[in-house]
Amino acid sequence: MAPLVAAGLNIILFLGSVRQPRNADRVLKLVQDRLEERSINVTVFDALKLEFDKVIKPIQYYNKSEIVPENILALNQQIKDADAFVVLTAEYHGSIAPGLLNLMNQFPPNSYAFRPSAVVSYSKGRFGGVRAAMQLRSFLSDLGLIQVPSLVAIPKVEEVVTPDGTTKDESLLSGLDAALDQLIWFAEAIKLQRKNYGLRCVDCFDDTNLGYKGLPYKNKKWS
Ligand SMILES: Cc1cc2nc3c(=O)[nH]c(=O)nc-3n(C[C@H](O)[C@H](O)[C@H](O)COP(=O)(O)O)c2cc1C
Repeated sequence: MAPLVAAGLNIILFLGSVRQPRNADRVLKLVQDRLEERSINVTVFDALKLEFDKVIKPIQYYNKSEIVPENILALNQQIKDADAFVVLTAEYHGSIAPGLLNLMNQFPPNSYAFRPSAVVSYSKGRFGGVRAAMQLRSFLSDLGLIQVPSLVAIPKVEEVVTPDGTTKDESLLSGLDAALDQLIWFAEAIKLQRKNYGLRCVDCFDDTNLGYKGLPYKNKKWS
């Protein structure tokens, strides 16, 4: 079956390794190429390039009287406008790359919520970062992101993916395509819901001042 093409869909690809050199770049290239072959607009949020120092003050912790820096607001808006997310993580001691958490924690759950996400993990070892991936799925759920069923885990990353992002591993490619098909399916379904009902429940969330007011439910106002 031909992969789903989704012209005009906006997907953000999160990348958490800040090591130099790093294997993240080869995995990024592999996934980004595969997304762009489907005519998807890809924006990369790279922890190395965005250089957040620490999680000092995520947007939702600003008081209304305080001014959120313009660059943070612009990134936040990109997250809000995205149709779906692909999140790459290496495995560091059985856990998520800390740079990824540092990056994603800069923005409120409300900015991510009600969109689908797919996890791609990788490692030098035999398990492909699957221990990190399971923790990442839990973290992403906490941000309000829907998870696609398929998980892509790449073991022995330096042998399996070349520096220019190609692979001869057919099972990796078919697994990646399955996860991306699922991501597109959910993204397009949610796009329809957004058209009909809006994306967020305005009574449920507020970007600032600890604005999380609980999950949306019937009789709430939608924007
Ligand atoms: C601090 C640290 C911890 C690591 N822990 C694991 C691990 O638990 N399992 C594993 O298979 N590889 C582990 N590795 C190897 C990484 O999977 C491998 O270096 C990978 O390329 C890291 O991704 P990056 O190059 O994009 O940072 C670890 C590497 C580092 C730097």
